[in-house]
Amino acid sequence: MPDARAPRLEVQGLTRAFGGRPVVDGVSFSVAPGQVTCLLGPSGCGKSTTLRMIAGVERLEAGTVRIDGVAMAGPGLHLPPEKRGVGLMFQDFALFPHLTVAGNVAFGLGGDKAARARRVDELLERVNLTGFGPKHPHQLSGGEQQRVALARALAPRPGVMLMDEPFSGLDNRLRDGIRDVTLDILKEEGAGVVLVTHEPDEAMRMADEIALMRGGRIVQKGAPYNVYNAPVDKAAAAFFSDVNVIRGMSRGALTETAFGAFLTPGHADGAAVEIVIRPQHLKIDFDRGGRGPLPTPQDGMAARGEVVRARYLGRESLVEFRMDFDGSRLTASVPGVFLPGPGTAFWLMIRRDKCFVFGAGKPA
Ligand SMILES: Nc1ncnc2c1ncn2[C@@H]1O[C@H](COP(=O)(O)OP(=O)(O)OP(=O)(O)O)[C@@H](O)[C@H]1O
Ligand SMILES: [Mg+2]
Repeated sequence: MPDARAPRLEVQGLTRAFGGRPVVDGVSFSVAPGQVTCLLGPSGCGKSTTLRMIAGVERLEAGTVRIDGVAMAGPGLHLPPEKRGVGLMFQDFALFPHLTVAGNVAFGLGGDKAARARRVDELLERVNLTGFGPKHPHQLSGGEQQRVALARALAPRPGVMLMDEPFSGLDNRLRDGIRDVTLDILKEEGAGVVLVTHEPDEAMRMADEIALMRGGRIVQKGAPYNVYNAPVDKAAAAFFSDVNVIRGMSRGALTETAFGAFLTPGHADGAAVEIVIRPQHLKIDFDRGGRGPLPTPQDGMAARGEVVRARYLGRESLVEFRMDFDGSRLTASVPGVFLPGPGTAFWLMIRRDKCFVFGAGKPA
């Protein structure tokens, strides 16, 4: 019995180049039993290549992959995928069309016939497909096929599940339900899961830990709450939502802006800084017929802007402002319906506890 706390998967310094261009560059992380780690990042940042090296379908140039403490790949070592005890689920998960649902799920199973049948029944029940065993894949909906694929990948009880955008072929309504079912089953089975996605919402929903990737590297790793609320740089903040940026210059650890002074400790005198704020953290106050906003010392000074346009998105409304102080555009999101007409004046404030301060000139 493996130690319940020992990582199921340990990846150290994973590196791979194509045509002399590094695509995965020193990626390290580990995944505990029942933990879901999401590799999240923009298209081309190396997520799938990382997963393929862990699976063993791609060779690594440097680094090591260990599963349940056993080296699978490293200098002079490359175990083939079928020897690694990993379950794979990709976007084009292609069930075997000539096999029944039961045949698909049993495909990778050893043992006697009765034990195989028991495992197949158990898994079909878990994915809510009891009785579907004799059907063929073409008789199933996309969501049902997806759940068969999940059952098939889980059947041999892999220690590590590798999933590459497995839900992207499903429509939105199906997706949420299947994500939750998948997550429940993976946790029960105690597999370590690596889920690749380029969708921040999916990562926030699924992950215990998000590894945010950019240009072949992990730029930030942490619980969804931490990655969202303490981004390492502007691009990390902007990956999860639109952001507003207010530029200024730090002097004596303070940066003066139209919204008042911001504490900017750690930035040298004369250094350009960017104050980054998500749309839901801009506060809006009314103009009161030209008399301006009510004073709110905790939110600094208010700056005046006029509505450029307002859009209703269902759960929230997005309002774009042109600011009087420099003509720049800022976007605020407001819960529910808030659709002021173009040209309406408002006063905006910035919640000090919700803004991020970065040195300007970091990679965008
Ligand atoms: N076999 C290959 N030969 C050459 N270049 C490759 C190969 N596989 C991947 N690449 C390149 O490596 C980079 C990273 O690819 P990868 O598939 O890992 O990205 P990704 O993060 O999964 O992106 P996406 O979100 O679009 O799936 C891309 O620029 C891609 O073109
Ligand atoms: Mg990919």
